[in-house]
Amino acid sequence: MPPKLVVGNWKMHGGAEELAEARDLARRSADAKCQIVVCPPATLLNRLDREFEGTRLATGGQDCHFGRTGAHTGDISAAMLLDAGARFVIVGHSERRSDHGETSAQVRSKADAAIDAGLVAVVCIGETEDERDKGMELEVAGTQLEESVPGGADGDSLAVAYEPVWAIGTGRTPSIADIEAMHDFIRSRLIERFGETAGRAIRLLYGGSVKPGNAESISGARNVDGCLVGGASLTASSFAAIIDAFE
Ligand code: PGA
Repeated sequence: MPPKLVVGNWKMHGGAEELAEARDLARRSADAKCQIVVCPPATLLNRLDREFEGTRLATGGQDCHFGRTGAHTGDISAAMLLDAGARFVIVGHSERRSDHGETSAQVRSKADAAIDAGLVAVVCIGETEDERDKGMELEVAGTQLEESVPGGADGDSLAVAYEPVWAIGTGRTPSIADIEAMHDFIRSRLIERFGETAGRAIRLLYGGSVKPGNAESISGARNVDGCLVGGASLTASSFAAIIDAFE
């Protein structure tokens, strides 16, 4: 089995002063057995990657363009992220889907571009509160999964993050039973599509209000192979406590 994967998403937070926090994180998690990735704003990516040199920590982008190069002002390609030191990239985060109107078809193109460039794509899916209230969460996640995940993906090139939109940044999380129901469902869909071996090797992350206080129980949930952490990844002590829970 691949190691568990814990990904920190700094979103639009952080400048040079946060590099000290990252050094502290590397020190605190020197003996961790899980794989640890920090996705800072693109402006910090290369500096953070240098901070992590000689440590077990890796860096990732928060988004990429689906093209390789071209006239796309403000965008960053997957190859550019790799060039800056990244080994991972998050695609299809719900904030990208809502702030920038990204569709699952676009997310799939981005994931394809990321994998082509040699990055691991972390594809995010998840229902809104309204969709869960209507009992549509499996249907919504299933469609997003089908449409956002490229063909030919495997455990080395892809991770899937289930992030219910209503749990992101709210302090609310689904019950462990609800997380397991969703992760079982995603696992079965991945096995149907990619076969038993690849379908089981693709790591399934839970994301949305993961904190030191709930990380232990989430990490013990069936078919949870890691987590995607926003707010609590900004402080070395809280992120390190979450990493500890995912050993
Ligand atoms: P949160 O964010 O941990 O702050 O809820 C998670 C995410 O958006 O990836």
